[in-house]
Amino acid sequence: MPGFTAYFGLLDIGQPKEGETVLISGAAGAVGSVVGQIAKIKGCRAIGIAGGPEKCKYVVEELGFDACIDYKNENVKKSIRANCPNGVDIYFDNVGGEILDIALTQINRGARIAICGAISQYNNKTAITGPANYLSLLVNAARMEGFVVFHFAKRYAEAAQHLSTWMAQGKIKSREHIEKGMENFYPTFQKLFSGEKKGKLVLQIAEDDL
Ligand SMILES: NC(=O)c1ccc[n+]([C@@H]2O[C@H](COP(=O)([O-])OP(=O)(O)OC[C@H]3O[C@@H](n4cnc5c(N)ncnc54)[C@H](OP(=O)(O)O)[C@@H]3O)[C@@H](O)[C@H]2O)c1
Repeated sequence: MPGFTAYFGLLDIGQPKEGETVLISGAAGAVGSVVGQIAKIKGCRAIGIAGGPEKCKYVVEELGFDACIDYKNENVKKSIRANCPNGVDIYFDNVGGEILDIALTQINRGARIAICGAISQYNNKTAITGPANYLSLLVNAARMEGFVVFHFAKRYAEAAQHLSTWMAQGKIKSREHIEKGMENFYPTFQKLFSGEKKGKLVLQIAEDDL
């Protein structure tokens, strides 16, 4: 499912062209890690945003992104400017909130923003406020579009064929972080928000637990 989300979100919503710059938040996660690797396959420059030096190292050295911005330790705006000298053509947003707002200030004319998720907002106790910098869409004649992977269900076979071919060719790598036991559901679920994982978070339920 995360691979399909990356596939349709980047290719259908983002519509990447060779040589363009793709910025991806949640870059070390299940969806974001695949988005950046497909962007590279399509001849784009892939710049990730992830939390912490270890994740950023993984995104660049193991997944092959061109660079990764550590949003917990860097000035995100300055780092986007430094790593995207030609601006951002596609922003694939997994986190929403402040990072989306900053990304909006760095987009190019005709940019596409794929709204995949907004994990920074899911546990808000107050109302979610929209991005303050949305007028950047106007001046850049840009587009921000949400999508739901399930709406592409009729095309899953197409995505599976491409993704499996790229995996067999070693062009896409995926990693699973596996925790075990139904009794660990709650602390495992919390890792989605604390970020203490790389790749797809999986809770394995052994037969004993059923
Ligand atoms: N549109 C769709 O059809 C569709 C389908 C599947 C998933 N999604 C969405 O896509 C997004 C990514 O899903 P996923 O399964 O790949 O999750 P994930 O990236 O594997 O896990 C969540 C990651 O989000 C980051 N994060 C958590 N809180 C954050 C915050 N406050 N600010 C910035 N980053 C934060 C953490 O990474 P760091 O350690 O790097 O901070 C964490 O590891 C989610 O928003 C999910 O809801 C959408």
